[in-house]
Amino acid sequence: MKIAIGCDHGGFVLKDSVIDYLKKQGLEVVDCGTYSNDSVDYPIFGEKVARLVAKGACDKGIVMCGTGIGISIAANKVRGIRCALCHDEYTAKMTAMHNNSNILAMGGRVVNPEMAVKIVKTWLDTPFEGGRHINRVNMFTDIENREE
Ligand code: RB5
Repeated sequence: MKIAIGCDHGGFVLKDSVIDYLKKQGLEVVDCGTYSNDSVDYPIFGEKVARLVAKGACDKGIVMCGTGIGISIAANKVRGIRCALCHDEYTAKMTAMHNNSNILAMGGRVVNPEMAVKIVKTWLDTPFEGGRHINRVNMFTDIENREE
């Protein structure tokens, strides 16, 4: 599985731990930056990850900013993206089960690196439940198709 990773300076604190974890699981990582604590604009990195996932170049994505909010909004602007902002293992599990989220967002000023790794593990290890959730997830696409 290939995972795209992106963050701004606020999410940078989580990046190394998340990448280390993914590599230890034998997953391929595409690092879209940023590469330092210098201030950058989070929409750039949210879009880079989202485009890779939307076109199928990566299977899933992980995005991080200070709160996780801005970069998740940016990722969700790309058609086909279901980016879920998670703060704990419960939200990570539920979004994998019910929303079939294809990008995970976290905040570097909200969770510490240890919690971020637990969230990533839970999100990746939890399968989509399907069933009644399939129609609901398809309704996201319906919304995109109704765009004026
Ligand atoms: C950057 O200071 C901060 O605004 C950003 O990382 C993120 O929290 C935005 O939602």
